[in-house]
Amino acid sequence: MRYDVSIVGLGRIGLPLALSFADRGLRVLGIDNNPERLSALREKRMPFDEPGAQELLERVDLGLSERVGDAADAQSIVLTLGTPAFSHIEIDMRDIRSALDDLLPVLHEGHALILRSTVAPDTTEFVAGYLEKHRSFVVGEDVFVAHVPERIAAGRFFEEASTLPCIIGGVGERSGEVAAKLFEVLGAPIVQTTPVQAELAKIWTNILRYANFSLPNLLMMDCEQHGANVFEVIDLINRDYPRGGMAQPGLTAGTCLRKDFAFSEERSPAPGMLLAVHRVNETVPRFLVEGIKRRVGKLRGVKVAVLGLAFKAGTDDERDSLAHKLVRLLERELADVAIHDPHVQTPTQSFDEAVDAADVVVIATNHPEFCGPAALRAIRSQAREDALVVDPWNCFGAAQVFAYTTEIQALAAPAS
Ligand SMILES: NC(=O)c1ccc[n+]([C@@H]2O[C@H](COP(=O)([O-])OP(=O)(O)OC[C@H]3O[C@@H](n4cnc5c(N)ncnc54)[C@H](O)[C@@H]3O)[C@@H](O)[C@H]2O)c1
Repeated sequence: MRYDVSIVGLGRIGLPLALSFADRGLRVLGIDNNPERLSALREKRMPFDEPGAQELLERVDLGLSERVGDAADAQSIVLTLGTPAFSHIEIDMRDIRSALDDLLPVLHEGHALILRSTVAPDTTEFVAGYLEKHRSFVVGEDVFVAHVPERIAAGRFFEEASTLPCIIGGVGERSGEVAAKLFEVLGAPIVQTTPVQAELAKIWTNILRYANFSLPNLLMMDCEQHGANVFEVIDLINRDYPRGGMAQPGLTAGTCLRKDFAFSEERSPAPGMLLAVHRVNETVPRFLVEGIKRRVGKLRGVKVAVLGLAFKAGTDDERDSLAHKLVRLLERELADVAIHDPHVQTPTQSFDEAVDAADVVVIATNHPEFCGPAALRAIRSQAREDALVVDPWNCFGAAQVFAYTTEIQALAAPAS
C-alpha cells in the first residue's frame, strides 16, 4: 500500500488531522470531492484559518485525490465528513452513506474504517453492520470499525490534538486496539470504551456546553423583563460561592453546538429539554433586536453596525453563526445594516465604514479587535454621539447588554 492512512473529507477537522499525521511521518492521502479545496491544497494554500496549519501544509507531503475509492490505498481510512442535522431533528448521514457506498467494493481484509465525524448514538454499529451485510466481513476480525470522536476546538487544533484524551470505541474484538495504533502517534492519552459510549461522550461534551450557555442567555432575557442587570446577577451568583458557577451570556451557536444536540434529541426518551435549550440560544438575536427597538424605537432607516460574523472569537468560521440571523432580523425591521468582520471570507465593510454615524453598534462576535478601550474609543469617535452599544459579551467591561456611549465613555480612556 502506498499510504498509511487516508483521510476522507478535508474540512476543518480532516485537513488539520491529515497534516498532523503527515507531521508524525505517516504517509497520508487526503480525499475531498470539492475541486476548489483540492486545487488550493495543491498550491499549498490553506482554505481556512487554523493556527499552524499553513506552515505544516508547506512542510509536509500530502497525497491528494477526489475519489473516495482511492482511500483503500491505505490500511486505515478515517472519515471526517460533515454530519449536519436535518430540520427533522435527525442526523443527516448522506455524506457518510455516500462514502461507505464508494468504499464497499474496494475494502479488503485488514482495513480499518474509523469514524472521526460526530455521529448519533449507534451509528458506529450501523457502519459495522453495513459492512457485514454487504461484504460479509466479520468486523473486529477481518476488518476494523471504530469511533474516535474529535473534541478539539477550532483554532486550537494542534495543541489539543496531542493533549485531549483520545476516546476510542471499537466494534468487536480488535477494532479498538487497531484504531489506537494509528491515533497513538498524536501523543494524547488513549481511553478505550464501547462505540456507543464514545458517541455519547462526544455529543454530550457539546450538549453540556450548549446547555451551560443557554442558562446565562435565559437569565439575560429574564433580567431585561425585571429591569435587572444580568452581569450583576451573575456576579452575585458566582461570587465566593463554592458550588459551580454561571457562565456569561453571548450568541451561542456554531456548526457543532447548534446541531449535535439533535443527535440525542432524535431518540430521546424525554424529548423537549434540549429543544428548549436550542430555542433559548436561538432567541438571543431576536431578544437583542427587541431590546434595541425598546430603546431606539422603530428601526426603519436606523443605521445599525454589526461587528462580527464569525460564531467564535478570533476565527473565520461563520457556519451557523447567530450573527447572520441577527443581520436578517435587523433587515426585516428595515434597519440600514452595516457589517464588519476582519476575519471571515464573506466580504464586509471596513470598521470605519460600518461604524461611521451608526445609531446602534452591536458586538455580535467577541473578536479581540472589538474588545477593550481602543475599540470603544473608535466607536465613540465615529458613531453618533448618543449611539446605543449592544454588548452581550461584555467586551468593553461595561457590564451592560445595552448602554449608550455617553454612559460608558469612561471605559474608553487609554490605560494610564
Ligand atoms: N469544526 C469543528 O470544530 C469540529 C469539532 C469537532 C468535531 N467536528 C465534527 O467533525 C466532522 C467534520 O466537520 P468539519 O467542520 O471538518 O466539516 P467540513 O464541512 O469543514 O468538512 C467536510 C469536508 O468533507 C468534504 N466532503 C463532503 N462529502 C464528501 C464526499 N462524499 N467525499 C469526499 N469529500 C466529501 C467537503 O468538501 C468538506 O471539505 C463533523 O461531523 C463535525 O461535527 C467538527
